[in-house]
Amino acid sequence: MIESKDLDFTGRRVLVTGAAGGIGSAIAAAFSAHGGELILADFDGEAIEEQSGEFGSGTVFHQYDQGDAASIAALAAAAGPVDVLCNNAGMIEAGPFLEQSPEIIQRIIAINLTGPVLMARHIGEGMVARGRGVIVNTASQLAFHGSATRAVYAAAKAGLVQFTKSAASEWAPFGVRVVALAPGRTLTPMTVPFLNTEEQRQEGLKHIPAGRYGSREEMAKLALFLASDAASYVVGETLIADGGYVLL
Ligand SMILES: NC(=O)c1ccc[n+]([C@@H]2O[C@H](COP(=O)([O-])OP(=O)(O)OC[C@H]3O[C@@H](n4cnc5c(N)ncnc54)[C@H](O)[C@@H]3O)[C@@H](O)[C@H]2O)c1
Repeated sequence: MIESKDLDFTGRRVLVTGAAGGIGSAIAAAFSAHGGELILADFDGEAIEEQSGEFGSGTVFHQYDQGDAASIAALAAAAGPVDVLCNNAGMIEAGPFLEQSPEIIQRIIAINLTGPVLMARHIGEGMVARGRGVIVNTASQLAFHGSATRAVYAAAKAGLVQFTKSAASEWAPFGVRVVALAPGRTLTPMTVPFLNTEEQRQEGLKHIPAGRYGSREEMAKLALFLASDAASYVVGETLIADGGYVLL
Protein backbone atom coordinates (compact mmCIF):
# COMPACT_ATOMS: atom_id res chain seq x y z
CA MET A 1 0.00 0.00 0.00
CA ILE A 2 1.31 3.44 -0.86
CA GLU A 3 1.05 5.69 2.19
CA SER A 4 0.81 9.46 1.92
CA LYS A 5 4.17 9.81 3.68
CA ASP A 6 5.77 7.91 0.79
CA LEU A 7 4.84 10.81 -1.52
CA ASP A 8 5.67 13.55 0.96
CA PHE A 9 8.56 15.83 -0.04
CA THR A 10 8.27 18.23 2.89
CA GLY A 11 11.69 19.64 3.72
CA ARG A 12 13.27 18.22 0.57
CA ARG A 13 14.99 20.49 -1.90
CA VAL A 14 13.94 19.69 -5.46
CA LEU A 15 15.87 21.09 -8.44
CA VAL A 16 13.86 21.00 -11.67
CA THR A 17 15.61 21.90 -14.92
CA GLY A 18 13.61 22.96 -17.96
CA ALA A 19 11.09 24.17 -15.39
CA ALA A 20 9.58 26.79 -17.70
CA GLY A 21 8.58 24.13 -20.21
CA GLY A 22 5.55 21.91 -20.54
CA ILE A 23 6.65 18.85 -18.58
CA GLY A 24 9.06 20.76 -16.31
CA SER A 25 6.45 23.23 -15.08
CA ALA A 26 4.06 20.34 -14.38
CA ILE A 27 6.83 18.54 -12.46
CA ALA A 28 7.42 21.70 -10.42
CA ALA A 29 3.70 21.96 -9.63
CA ALA A 30 3.55 18.30 -8.59
CA PHE A 31 6.48 18.57 -6.18
CA SER A 32 5.16 21.86 -4.82
CA ALA A 33 1.80 20.20 -4.09
CA HIS A 34 3.65 17.48 -2.16
CA GLY A 35 5.65 19.86 0.02
CA GLY A 36 8.91 20.11 -1.93
CA GLU A 37 11.11 23.21 -1.72
CA LEU A 38 11.62 24.20 -5.33
CA ILE A 39 14.72 25.35 -7.15
CA LEU A 40 13.63 26.03 -10.73
CA ALA A 41 16.05 26.48 -13.61
CA ASP A 42 15.66 27.15 -17.31
CA PHE A 43 17.31 28.79 -20.30
CA ASP A 44 14.29 31.05 -20.64
CA GLY A 45 14.84 33.40 -17.72
CA GLU A 46 11.70 35.44 -18.35
CA ALA A 47 9.39 32.45 -18.51
CA ILE A 48 10.82 31.06 -15.29
CA GLU A 49 10.33 34.38 -13.50
CA GLU A 50 6.72 34.47 -14.70
CA GLN A 51 6.08 31.34 -12.66
CA SER A 52 7.21 33.04 -9.48
CA GLY A 53 3.64 33.65 -8.28
CA GLU A 54 2.60 30.01 -8.73
CA PHE A 55 4.73 28.38 -6.08
CA GLY A 56 5.69 28.94 -2.46
CA SER A 57 7.59 32.07 -1.44
CA GLY A 58 10.71 29.99 -0.84
CA THR A 59 10.97 29.02 -4.51
CA VAL A 60 14.26 29.99 -6.11
CA PHE A 61 14.74 30.68 -9.84
CA HIS A 62 17.87 30.42 -11.97
CA GLN A 63 18.61 31.15 -15.60
CA TYR A 64 21.25 28.87 -17.11
CA ASP A 65 22.31 27.18 -20.34
CA GLN A 66 22.41 23.40 -20.33
CA GLY A 67 24.60 23.52 -23.41
CA ASP A 68 27.35 25.27 -21.48
CA ALA A 69 29.50 23.47 -18.90
CA ALA A 70 30.39 26.62 -16.96
CA SER A 71 26.74 27.62 -16.72
CA ILE A 72 25.82 24.18 -15.38
CA ALA A 73 28.58 24.35 -12.77
CA ALA A 74 27.38 27.81 -11.73
CA LEU A 75 23.79 26.58 -11.37
CA ALA A 76 24.89 23.60 -9.28
CA ALA A 77 26.93 25.84 -6.99
CA ALA A 78 24.08 28.33 -6.61
CA ALA A 79 21.52 25.60 -5.97
CA GLY A 80 23.24 24.33 -2.83
CA PRO A 81 22.30 20.92 -1.38
CA VAL A 82 19.68 19.14 -3.48
CA ASP A 83 17.63 16.09 -2.44
CA VAL A 84 15.91 15.49 -5.79
CA LEU A 85 17.24 16.47 -9.20
CA CYS A 86 14.70 16.36 -12.03
CA ASN A 87 17.15 16.48 -14.91
CA ASN A 88 14.46 17.46 -17.35
CA ALA A 89 15.62 20.27 -19.67
CA GLY A 90 15.92 19.24 -23.29
CA MET A 91 15.38 20.37 -26.85
CA ILE A 92 14.68 18.81 -30.21
CA GLU A 93 15.82 19.92 -33.63
CA ALA A 94 14.16 17.61 -36.11
CA GLY A 95 15.13 17.21 -39.74
CA PRO A 96 16.87 14.87 -42.18
CA PHE A 97 20.23 13.92 -40.72
CA LEU A 98 22.17 15.13 -43.77
CA GLU A 99 20.59 18.54 -43.39
CA GLN A 100 21.76 18.96 -39.81
CA SER A 101 24.94 21.02 -39.50
CA PRO A 102 27.80 19.87 -37.24
CA GLU A 103 26.97 22.81 -34.95
CA ILE A 104 23.33 21.71 -34.56
CA ILE A 105 24.39 18.10 -33.99
CA GLN A 106 26.78 19.16 -31.23
CA ARG A 107 24.16 21.40 -29.64
CA ILE A 108 21.54 18.60 -29.60
CA ILE A 109 24.02 16.26 -27.89
CA ALA A 110 25.24 18.99 -25.53
CA ILE A 111 21.77 19.86 -24.26
CA ASN A 112 20.22 16.38 -24.21
CA LEU A 113 23.18 14.27 -23.07
CA THR A 114 26.34 16.09 -21.99
CA GLY A 115 24.36 18.70 -20.05
CA PRO A 116 22.29 16.27 -17.97
CA VAL A 117 25.40 14.15 -17.33
CA LEU A 118 27.35 17.19 -16.09
CA MET A 119 24.38 18.25 -13.97
CA ALA A 120 24.22 14.78 -12.41
CA ARG A 121 27.98 14.90 -11.85
CA HIS A 122 27.79 18.19 -9.92
CA ILE A 123 24.58 17.59 -7.99
CA GLY A 124 25.25 13.88 -7.43
CA GLU A 125 28.57 14.57 -5.74
CA GLY A 126 26.79 16.24 -2.82
CA MET A 127 24.17 13.50 -2.71
CA VAL A 128 26.82 10.80 -2.46
CA ALA A 129 28.61 12.75 0.27
CA ARG A 130 25.36 13.10 2.27
CA GLY A 131 24.33 9.49 1.58
CA ARG A 132 20.92 10.27 0.07
CA GLY A 133 19.26 11.69 -3.02
CA VAL A 134 17.39 10.84 -6.19
CA ILE A 135 18.08 11.85 -9.79
CA VAL A 136 15.26 11.51 -12.32
CA ASN A 137 16.52 11.95 -15.87
CA THR A 138 14.00 12.78 -18.58
CA ALA A 139 14.81 10.55 -21.54
CA SER A 140 12.38 9.78 -24.38
CA GLN A 141 10.60 6.87 -26.02
CA LEU A 142 12.86 7.63 -29.00
CA ALA A 143 15.76 6.21 -26.97
CA PHE A 144 14.22 2.79 -27.59
CA HIS A 145 13.11 2.79 -31.21
CA GLY A 146 14.73 5.79 -32.89
CA SER A 147 13.02 7.79 -35.58
CA ALA A 148 13.79 9.25 -39.01
CA THR A 149 14.46 13.00 -38.72
CA ARG A 150 15.40 12.61 -35.06
CA ALA A 151 18.63 10.59 -35.28
CA VAL A 152 20.82 12.77 -33.07
CA TYR A 153 18.13 13.47 -30.47
CA ALA A 154 17.31 9.73 -30.22
CA ALA A 155 21.01 8.90 -29.84
CA ALA A 156 21.42 11.48 -27.07
CA LYS A 157 18.39 10.18 -25.18
CA ALA A 158 19.56 6.57 -25.58
CA GLY A 159 22.87 7.68 -24.08
CA LEU A 160 21.00 9.17 -21.14
CA VAL A 161 19.23 5.85 -20.54
CA GLN A 162 22.56 4.01 -20.42
CA PHE A 163 24.08 6.71 -18.23
CA THR A 164 21.13 6.25 -15.85
CA LYS A 165 21.86 2.54 -15.46
CA SER A 166 25.60 2.98 -14.96
CA ALA A 167 25.43 5.92 -12.56
CA ALA A 168 22.73 4.06 -10.63
CA SER A 169 25.04 1.07 -10.21
CA GLU A 170 27.82 3.29 -8.89
CA TRP A 171 25.74 5.39 -6.54
CA ALA A 172 23.12 2.95 -5.17
CA PRO A 173 25.61 1.72 -2.53
CA PHE A 174 25.81 5.34 -1.31
CA GLY A 175 22.04 5.71 -0.95
CA VAL A 176 21.57 7.68 -4.18
CA ARG A 177 19.04 6.43 -6.71
CA VAL A 178 19.32 7.32 -10.39
CA VAL A 179 16.28 6.59 -12.55
CA ALA A 180 14.72 7.91 -15.76
CA LEU A 181 11.38 8.71 -17.26
CA ALA A 182 10.85 8.17 -21.00
CA PRO A 183 7.83 10.17 -22.15
CA GLY A 184 6.07 9.28 -25.34
CA ARG A 185 4.43 11.99 -27.39
CA THR A 186 3.25 14.53 -24.88
CA LEU A 187 1.39 17.74 -25.66
CA THR A 188 3.82 20.53 -24.76
CA PRO A 189 5.42 23.49 -26.57
CA MET A 190 8.06 21.03 -27.82
CA THR A 191 5.56 18.99 -29.81
CA VAL A 192 3.41 21.86 -31.12
CA PRO A 193 5.43 22.16 -34.36
CA PHE A 194 4.89 18.46 -35.10
CA LEU A 195 1.24 18.23 -34.08
CA ASN A 196 0.00 21.54 -35.37
CA THR A 197 -2.58 20.36 -37.86
CA GLU A 198 -5.44 17.89 -37.45
CA GLU A 199 -3.81 15.77 -40.17
CA GLN A 200 -0.52 15.61 -38.23
CA ARG A 201 -2.36 14.75 -35.02
CA GLN A 202 -4.39 11.95 -36.62
CA GLU A 203 -1.29 10.53 -38.33
CA GLY A 204 0.58 10.48 -35.01
CA LEU A 205 -2.27 8.73 -33.23
CA LYS A 206 -2.04 5.74 -35.59
CA HIS A 207 1.12 4.73 -33.71
CA ILE A 208 -0.29 5.00 -30.20
CA PRO A 209 -2.43 2.06 -29.02
CA ALA A 210 -3.91 4.18 -26.23
CA GLY A 211 -5.39 6.40 -28.93
CA ARG A 212 -4.30 9.74 -27.48
CA TYR A 213 -1.27 11.83 -26.67
CA GLY A 214 0.14 12.03 -23.17
CA SER A 215 -0.36 15.03 -20.91
CA ARG A 216 2.33 16.96 -19.06
CA GLU A 217 0.56 16.17 -15.78
CA GLU A 218 0.75 12.42 -16.46
CA MET A 219 4.53 12.76 -16.92
CA ALA A 220 4.85 14.88 -13.79
CA LYS A 221 3.06 12.28 -11.66
CA LEU A 222 5.50 9.63 -12.83
CA ALA A 223 8.52 11.84 -12.12
CA LEU A 224 7.14 12.43 -8.62
CA PHE A 225 6.54 8.69 -8.12
CA LEU A 226 10.04 7.77 -9.32
CA ALA A 227 11.60 10.32 -6.95
CA SER A 228 9.44 9.26 -4.02
CA ASP A 229 9.92 6.68 -1.29
CA ALA A 230 7.17 4.65 -3.01
CA ALA A 231 9.83 3.83 -5.63
CA SER A 232 12.65 3.31 -3.12
CA TYR A 233 13.73 -0.03 -4.66
CA VAL A 234 13.70 1.25 -8.26
CA VAL A 235 17.33 1.67 -9.30
CA GLY A 236 18.63 2.44 -12.79
CA GLU A 237 15.29 1.81 -14.49
CA THR A 238 13.71 3.91 -17.21
CA LEU A 239 9.93 4.10 -16.99
CA ILE A 240 8.41 4.37 -20.47
CA ALA A 241 5.11 6.25 -20.60
CA ASP A 242 4.07 6.32 -24.24
CA GLY A 243 0.52 4.99 -24.48
CA GLY A 244 1.97 1.72 -25.81
CA TYR A 245 3.93 3.20 -28.74
CA VAL A 246 6.97 0.95 -28.31
CA LEU A 247 4.71 -2.12 -28.32
CA LEU A 248 3.82 -1.60 -31.98
N1 LIG B 1 6.96 16.54 -25.22
C1 LIG B 1 7.28 15.33 -25.63
O1 LIG B 1 6.55 14.70 -26.43
C2 LIG B 1 8.53 14.67 -25.10
C3 LIG B 1 8.73 13.33 -25.42
C4 LIG B 1 9.86 12.69 -24.95
C5 LIG B 1 10.78 13.37 -24.17
N2 LIG B 1 10.55 14.68 -23.89
C6 LIG B 1 11.55 15.34 -23.05
O2 LIG B 1 10.90 15.94 -21.94
C7 LIG B 1 11.68 17.05 -21.49
C8 LIG B 1 10.78 18.26 -21.36
O3 LIG B 1 10.27 18.57 -22.65
P1 LIG B 1 8.92 19.40 -22.90
O4 LIG B 1 8.06 18.58 -23.77
O5 LIG B 1 8.40 19.91 -21.62
O6 LIG B 1 9.51 20.55 -23.83
P2 LIG B 1 9.44 22.14 -23.64
O7 LIG B 1 10.08 22.68 -24.86
O8 LIG B 1 8.07 22.56 -23.30
O9 LIG B 1 10.36 22.38 -22.37
C9 LIG B 1 11.76 22.23 -22.41
C10 LIG B 1 12.37 23.27 -21.52
O10 LIG B 1 13.79 23.11 -21.54
C11 LIG B 1 14.36 24.39 -21.65
N3 LIG B 1 15.64 24.35 -22.33
C12 LIG B 1 15.88 24.14 -23.65
N4 LIG B 1 17.17 24.30 -23.91
C13 LIG B 1 17.78 24.64 -22.74
C14 LIG B 1 19.10 24.96 -22.37
N5 LIG B 1 20.07 25.01 -23.28
N6 LIG B 1 19.36 25.24 -21.07
C15 LIG B 1 18.37 25.20 -20.15
N7 LIG B 1 17.09 24.92 -20.44
C16 LIG B 1 16.80 24.65 -21.72
C17 LIG B 1 13.38 25.22 -22.48
O11 LIG B 1 13.54 26.62 -22.30
C18 LIG B 1 12.05 24.70 -22.00
O12 LIG B 1 11.52 25.48 -20.94
C19 LIG B 1 12.81 17.23 -22.50
O13 LIG B 1 13.99 16.63 -22.00
C20 LIG B 1 12.30 16.48 -23.71
O14 LIG B 1 13.35 16.04 -24.52
C21 LIG B 1 9.46 15.35 -24.32
